[in-house]
Amino acid sequence: MQKNPNPEWTLLYFLRFKLRLCGTKEACGEGGCGACTVLQAKFDESTGKIVNAAINACITPLCSTHGSAIITTEGIGSVKAGLHPVQERIAKSHGTQCGFCTPGFVMSMYALLRNNPEPTEQEMEDAFQGNLCRCTGYRTIMEGFKTFCKETAPSANGCCGGKGKNGGCCMDGFINDGESRTELADTLFDPSEFKKYDPKADIIFPSELQLNKNLRKQSLKFQGSDVTWLKPSSLEELLKIKQQHPNSKCVGGNTELGIEVKFKQQLYPVLIYISEIDELTQIQVCDNRLKIGSAVTLSRLQTFCKDLSSNSKRSYGTVLEALLEMLHWFAGQQIRNVATIAGNIITASPISDLIPVLMASGAVVNLRSLKGQTLYLYKYRIEPKLALYKFRLVASHTNT
Ligand SMILES: Cc1cc2nc3c(=O)[nH]c(=O)nc-3n(C[C@H](O)[C@H](O)[C@H](O)COP(=O)(O)OP(=O)(O)OC[C@H]3O[C@@H](n4cnc5c(N)ncnc54)[C@H](O)[C@@H]3O)c2cc1C
Ligand code: FES
Ligand code: FES
Repeated sequence: MQKNPNPEWTLLYFLRFKLRLCGTKEACGEGGCGACTVLQAKFDESTGKIVNAAINACITPLCSTHGSAIITTEGIGSVKAGLHPVQERIAKSHGTQCGFCTPGFVMSMYALLRNNPEPTEQEMEDAFQGNLCRCTGYRTIMEGFKTFCKETAPSANGCCGGKGKNGGCCMDGFINDGESRTELADTLFDPSEFKKYDPKADIIFPSELQLNKNLRKQSLKFQGSDVTWLKPSSLEELLKIKQQHPNSKCVGGNTELGIEVKFKQQLYPVLIYISEIDELTQIQVCDNRLKIGSAVTLSRLQTFCKDLSSNSKRSYGTVLEALLEMLHWFAGQQIRNVATIAGNIITASPISDLIPVLMASGAVVNLRSLKGQTLYLYKYRIEPKLALYKFRLVASHTNT
């Protein structure tokens, strides 16, 4: 346990330089490549379930992980202790060359299986939207991991599926150098060699994190030499802190702020972590409107909208479809797992993917201070930065 974590440390820095767990790699350092993917597990008291999410350690503030369990590639298996089936299959399907991206792919697949032990191929592909590999061309990785999927295509043993010469396998052949004849393998791997995946054999969520109900709900303060990290436990407490420290910055997923601090040398002396505040993490359906808490993550919004459109008899029409379509293309899974809707709106980027959908659907942003105030999102059309400057308050929820 780290007693007083430095608010300026990322989770990746802590893993590699303090714990010397160097399996998690740093490549881009800005949330774009997935080499630093780890699994974050949290106990959700409202549903009584454990929520597992792949996240990018390179832009995750260490302080934001308080009360959650982090699993790295070392934690699930090793050559010495025995490989996890995910690690074994990427190796045996030749899905690794330089190996720099491999721990990230492994942890994205592991996170997917922890939530869904029999994913579809589409779900598997979506889980890798945030993982890049510059060596393999992806096919070998996908072929190996497809063997975990329920609807496995005929090519899941690594065979091309009969697209070679004369309708045969593309690898069906031999090399004859005049002296000897070498048969070419007609499959990438032999799936019968793979260990069976048994979800029950996976690491158990630490009971102390589940039993200690206050752990994630308590107010916290971590003091560094230049930065103070505050974690309020309610909206009221957040508004009071905002009034006390008008120049403080709210932190949601840190996918914008983290980049500003790391690459644009910004220093924010007071950071307020808002992602664990109950009032800001709710989604409600009110008549034909969605009420979305400002700290709702994009992946949670995506799941909620998918469930709503498939389970409800009522048609929610084009707004929901447009939102889902946009969220599908929004960054990768690791970013969507932490990035919040408010973070996107408040950044007011001219290339934001969400703001056009919100504006077109007539969304209203409720901004709150201790006095309260409302702003219509269409005002962003005039001058995004002006609206941001004028209303530097705390967004409590967004209506679409
Ligand atoms: C690799 C990568 C890919 C990305 N891809 C996309 C993409 O495809 N499309 C796109 O539009 N964006 C993209 N982004 C940008 C970013 O992920 C989004 O803007 C995201 O929604 C920001 O949310 P956040 O919670 O991480 O914000 P943070 O970084 O936590 O905060 C951003 C800003 O919002 C403020 N803020 C956050 N919450 C509140 C609140 N409740 N009240 C008041 N202020 C608040 C913060 O103080 C800060 O100024 C990407 C970023 C990265 C790193
Ligand atoms: S190092 Fe590239 S996403 Fe973290
Ligand atoms: S194996 Fe080299 S980057 Fe993927």
